[in-house]
Amino acid sequence: MSTDKMMYFGMFILLQVLTPVVTQRVRMCYYTSWSQSRFRPSDIDATLCTHIIYAFAHVNSVDNTLATVRYNDLELYNNVTSLKAKNPDLKVLLAVGGFNFGSAGFIAIAQDDKKTTLFADNVVNYLRQHRFDGLDVDWEFPSPSTRGIYQRFVQVGRSYEVFHFVESRIAFQGVIM
Ligand SMILES: *[C@@H]1O[C@H](CO)[C@@H](O)[C@H](O)[C@H]1NC(C)=O
Repeated sequence: MSTDKMMYFGMFILLQVLTPVVTQRVRMCYYTSWSQSRFRPSDIDATLCTHIIYAFAHVNSVDNTLATVRYNDLELYNNVTSLKAKNPDLKVLLAVGGFNFGSAGFIAIAQDDKKTTLFADNVVNYLRQHRFDGLDVDWEFPSPSTRGIYQRFVQVGRSYEVFHFVESRIAFQGVIM
């Protein structure tokens, strides 16, 4: 395993916009849409998780927004976010990217500040519409040559004022370079 990959697996940063200090224990649960034939959202014990990450959405870099991947993602979004009824403190994050999606879709947005801002606007609307509490940017993987735009993308995402209105908790998962 390369050093980069080891760092990737070893690091998880939860950035909380509203509450800068993490006071409670975080127990992150991860649900993937491709496991649905064996494991449904209703099989998740929501009381065991403080956060659920739903994987994955993709980036639509033509319209600067998020896109579904599976035919029934919207149903799964709804079923996972509905688990908040069983655990009112539960935060559900939508993961964008993933290994199969790779880097190109992120680069198309992140290399342009205007697109990044449009994307952030659209993400907030998308998260609100589907009752998510935040976004987990799963850019696999930033490389030394995309380091600058990756850092800029993270910086814009973190500083984006509108995230305050949705009380988002934004997790950025990635290589620290
Ligand atoms: C989503 O929830 C509805 C209502 O409980 C249920 O009928 C449906 O089977 C669930 N879908 C999946 C993919 O788990």
